[in-house]
Amino acid sequence: MKAIVYYKYGSPDVLELKEVEKPNPRDHEVLVKIYAASANAADWHLMRAEPFLARLENGLLKPKNTKLGADVAGRVEAVGRNVTQFQAGDDVFGGMPLNELGSFAEYVCAPEELLALKPTRLTFEQAAAVPLAAFTALQGLRDKGQIQPGQKVLINGASGGVGTFAVQIAKSFGTEVTGVCSTRNLDLVRSIGADHAIDYTQEDFTRNGQRYDLIFDAVGNRSVSDLNRVLNPNGICAVAGFTSLSRLFQVMFLGGKKIGLMATAKGNKKDLVFIQELLEAGKVVPVIDRTYPFPEVPEAIRYLETGHAQGKVVIAVAQNN
Ligand SMILES: NC(=O)c1ccc[n+]([C@@H]2O[C@H](COP(=O)([O-])OP(=O)(O)OC[C@H]3O[C@@H](n4cnc5c(N)ncnc54)[C@H](OP(=O)(O)O)[C@@H]3O)[C@@H](O)[C@H]2O)c1
Repeated sequence: MKAIVYYKYGSPDVLELKEVEKPNPRDHEVLVKIYAASANAADWHLMRAEPFLARLENGLLKPKNTKLGADVAGRVEAVGRNVTQFQAGDDVFGGMPLNELGSFAEYVCAPEELLALKPTRLTFEQAAAVPLAAFTALQGLRDKGQIQPGQKVLINGASGGVGTFAVQIAKSFGTEVTGVCSTRNLDLVRSIGADHAIDYTQEDFTRNGQRYDLIFDAVGNRSVSDLNRVLNPNGICAVAGFTSLSRLFQVMFLGGKKIGLMATAKGNKKDLVFIQELLEAGKVVPVIDRTYPFPEVPEAIRYLETGHAQGKVVIAVAQNN
């Protein structure tokens, strides 16, 4: 089968489309013929081994796992002998564990526990846009952020891959949502349900007198004192990303009880089914910025790395006939 592989760390130039061995499912795994995948920040963090800690995960000098791609949507081709929930022909979607990425390929073996049936109203490309970004939004808002109905929630980076899910998932919890984005994305952020949209090029959300019960920060560009200023006394800020190591360390060491990094998002069946139900109900609709053909994964990642995607960047791996 064909797969995107990399044998050394670096820019998207290190990615190659190569013929590699088709995987065989282990007992608990499902072999999926991939129709679509999507790109995530995790792909370029691992590809570049940035920050340096990524090397502890995936090899000090060169990548141990030479494949990338966390999100998958496709059709089950075969199942391992202990798999009970799927059979050949099922249309599925899900996310790979970060140490076993591999959806930028024609086939992948995914643990049964990390897959669910593809929502029927979604195309494979829409379904592939969902898993890691939606897990991040859900786990940040719910687990770190302790989201409650009626709260005032602010999403920083509301127009990105994670942010577009965060706006919609926060709304589904019955909260009043403010999205922060640039001028060209104001309409997008309102269209996915934000009650208010703030243009960060015109207004500093930390200095307009408003306060929030929960901030979900999918950018990580603000200081701890800025974030503290806009949190209510019992407010929580869940930080999902960071724009520099100094911002990261500030949140880690100075954030106190209220402001903290969320744990790395992890795929699991319970959350995938929760998200699947929101998708089936039309409460969450994936926002896709661009779809790249399979050989153009390097261009897709180059685009994602600009930090200005409008929703998700999807890879069309194969036609669904
Ligand atoms: N903790 C985890 O497990 C986890 C998992 C996934 C992702 N992440 C992190 O979450 C972050 C977001 O990921 P993503 O996939 O959503 O990235 P993305 O798709 O590249 O989106 C970035 C968004 O940020 C917006 N943005 C840029 N500068 C901004 C500013 N100053 N104020 C407000 N918005 C701004 C951009 O909008 P404009 O074009 O309008 O500027 C863009 O829509 C990344 O740092 C990523 O590493 C963490």
